[in-house]
Amino acid sequence: MKSNGSNIGIIGCGSIGHVHARHAVQAGLNVAAVWDILPHAAATLAGEVPNAQVMPSVEALLAQRDIAGVIIAVPNALHMPLAVQSLQAGKHVLLEKPMALSAGQCDEIICASDKANKQVQMGFVCRQLPAVATAKKLLNTGAFGSLYHIKASTYRRRGVPGLGGWFTNKAHSGGGPLIDLGVHIIDASLWLAGFPKVLRASGAIYANFGCQMQNYTHVSMWAGPPKFNGVCDVEDHATALLRCEGGLTIEVNTTWAMNVQDGIMPDGLILMGQKAGCHIGLQAKSLTLATESHAMPADLEPHFCAEDPLKQAWNAQAAAFASLLQQGTMPIATAREGRQVQSVIDAIYASAKLGHEVDVHA
Ligand SMILES: NC(=O)c1ccc[n+]([C@@H]2O[C@H](COP(=O)([O-])OP(=O)(O)OC[C@H]3O[C@@H](n4cnc5c(N)ncnc54)[C@H](O)[C@@H]3O)[C@@H](O)[C@H]2O)c1
Repeated sequence: MKSNGSNIGIIGCGSIGHVHARHAVQAGLNVAAVWDILPHAAATLAGEVPNAQVMPSVEALLAQRDIAGVIIAVPNALHMPLAVQSLQAGKHVLLEKPMALSAGQCDEIICASDKANKQVQMGFVCRQLPAVATAKKLLNTGAFGSLYHIKASTYRRRGVPGLGGWFTNKAHSGGGPLIDLGVHIIDASLWLAGFPKVLRASGAIYANFGCQMQNYTHVSMWAGPPKFNGVCDVEDHATALLRCEGGLTIEVNTTWAMNVQDGIMPDGLILMGQKAGCHIGLQAKSLTLATESHAMPADLEPHFCAEDPLKQAWNAQAAAFASLLQQGTMPIATAREGRQVQSVIDAIYASAKLGHEVDVHA
C-alpha cells in the first residue's frame, strides 16, 4: 500500500462505484480495498483497478489503518449508516448523493464527522461540470447582476432507473427523480446563488408511468431493464417552487418519464439576472450570456469550457478528494450544504403530501 493519504476504499461496487474507481486512480489515489454485499460485484471492480483487494466485510475494510478515506456508493438508505460507521472508524468520506433520506439523518452524519474530526465531501458532481463552474466564476464577477430566478430541470422521456429495483423502492431510495436527479440541480442552483436560506417550498409529485408498471415501455437505461415483480412506490415526476431569503425563486422540474418528445424541454439551469442571464446545459461545452448592449439585446461571445464535460467534472471531484486526503484541503461540497439540499427535498415532499406551501426547516 502507498502511504501519505493516497489509499482509499470503495464501499459499493455498482455502476457509480466503477466510475469513482476510474477517476480516483486518474487522480493518483490507490484503490486499496473494495467491499460490496455482492461478492461478484466487488471482485469485478477489484479486477479493473491495480492493487485492489476484496474485503470480507465493511468492518475489515474500515479496520485497514492505511486507508485514509472511503467512497460510499451504495443505495441511498445506506448512506447514513455507512457514512457514520466510516467516520467513526476515522476515515474521510466521499459520499454519493443524496446525502441521506432526511435532514435528520444528515445531522447524524454531521455529528459523527464533527466528533471524529474527519471530513465529508458530498458527491455533488454537477457543480464541477465546466458550464456550471464557468457560470459560478461569472456570477462572482458580477456579470449577471442580481440573480432573481433560476429554472432547474432534468427531463427524461423514458428513463426510470432499474424499474422494480432499489431506485424505485422508497425504503431504499427515499423517493424518485426528486431525490435522485433533483438533488443535483437543487444543489447546483443553491451553490450558484451562494446558498441563500430557502424559506418556503411548494411542490407536487406524480406517479403515472413506472409506478403502475404499465404505460411504460423500457427503451434503455444504465440501471437495467424493468423487474416487473419488483416494487415501485415512488414518484416519476416532481415540480416545485422554492422561495429564498432576498427574493430569489428557484423552479425545479425533474422527471424520469413523460410523454414529451426528446429535446423539447432543455435540461439544465436557466439563470435570470438583472444584467445578464444564460442557459447552462448540464453537458454543454460552452456558455453564452444573454444581455443588452447599446440598447439592443445581445449575446456575449461564448465562454468555451470543455471537451468532455462529464469526464472533466468527475476528474475535478476525484482530484478534490485526493487533495482533501493528501493536503488536508476542505471539501468542495460540504456536509452542511448536503444537509441544506436535503432539507429542501424534505420540504418539497412534505408540501406535495399536504397540497400547500410549507416552511423549509434548514
Ligand atoms: N453522482 C451521480 O451522477 C450518480 C449517478 C448514479 C448513481 N449515483 C448514486 O450512487 C449510489 C449508487 O448508485 P448506483 O447507480 O451505483 O447503484 P447500483 O445498484 O449500480 O450499485 C449499488 C451497489 O451497492 C451494493 N450494495 C447494496 N447494499 C450494500 C451494502 N450493505 N454494503 C455494500 N454494498 C452494498 C450493491 O450490491 C450494488 O453493487 C446511489 O446513492 C446513487 O444515488 C450517483
